[in-house]
Amino acid sequence: MRPLGPRDVDAVCARVGARVAAAAQRCAMLEGTLEREALRRAVTSATPAWVARSRGRVVGHLATALVDGSRGRAWVPPDGASFDGPAVLAALVGAAAPSWRDAGADGVSAWVYDEPTEVRAWATYGAALTARRGVRALASPPAQGRPTGLRLRRVEAGDLEMALRLDRWGDPPGVAPPDEDERRAEVIDLLEDPEVDYLVAELDGRALAQVVVMPLPPRRGSRPGAVHLSAVAVDPDERGRGLGGAVVGAVLARARASGHAYAEVNWRTLDPRVERFWRARGFTPTHALVEGPLPD
Ligand SMILES: CC(C)(COP(=O)(O)OP(=O)(O)OC[C@H]1O[C@@H](n2cnc3c(N)ncnc32)[C@H](O)[C@@H]1OP(=O)(O)O)[C@@H](O)C(=O)NCCC(=O)NCCS
Repeated sequence: MRPLGPRDVDAVCARVGARVAAAAQRCAMLEGTLEREALRRAVTSATPAWVARSRGRVVGHLATALVDGSRGRAWVPPDGASFDGPAVLAALVGAAAPSWRDAGADGVSAWVYDEPTEVRAWATYGAALTARRGVRALASPPAQGRPTGLRLRRVEAGDLEMALRLDRWGDPPGVAPPDEDERRAEVIDLLEDPEVDYLVAELDGRALAQVVVMPLPPRRGSRPGAVHLSAVAVDPDERGRGLGGAVVGAVLARARASGHAYAEVNWRTLDPRVERFWRARGFTPTHALVEGPLPD
């Protein structure tokens, strides 16, 4: 194990390229092409990053996208890790852990391909699957569900208190809710971002659901022209009556009409009903979020 240096860059880029191409062969919803120069820049600038070598050959690498000391997490993106077997991954994480800890992290969150071998490799030292990313094509018109009379409108800055109330509907049961100041700051950021559509679904003037929609900038691992859905939440008293499906159907139809070719969403895996909801709306899991403590 050693820090990634200039002479490792070609080998790491080749490994990432092969990994991306192979994953796209297995899952049609994954993007298989890579902008080589952008990847090179990312590999060269990733700090700290580690490589594992064996008999003169690179057998793995590990690079964080971000060490977020305030949240105590080291974030590893899908192309931030490659390993010839779980033992190599464990050794890489062990090598990286001290510098992550120094930067304020006490845990690691890694987006990996949603494949059992990947999730198992990360699980060997205690990381668990906590969320999935699903993608669907918008080539065919998405199912709209039964008509509900819902009206979608953009939440304005003056609707902050309502947006905060709706945002709380999305808090997963059994997990500590975010700090209210943090929630407020995040909701304000979204409301003020001109790229973001913060939408509320109303029936007879009563807010029943929310969804946040944003176009995805080009990024490695996502389809070009994709729209990202988040914070989909229905009034707890109104769930299971088709409202969530109707809201998502309407948003996907709007995205298709404005030229988006794909939609993606991240969902937590704690509640199997949520997973069923997204699969039933045509989303294929592409990535898994595995999270765990740093090894000693
Ligand atoms: C997930 C959610 C948006 C679905 O909206 P909904 O209006 O309850 O869903 P619909 O009535 O349109 O569709 C019903 C399907 O949703 C799923 N579902 C998820 N949560 C459910 C709940 N609490 N009650 C009933 N169905 C639920 C089930 O698969 C159900 O299908 P089934 O009847 O075959 O079991 C909503 O339940 C919700 O707000 N949950 C909490 C926030 C959350 O987890 N959001 C997802 C974040 S990405």
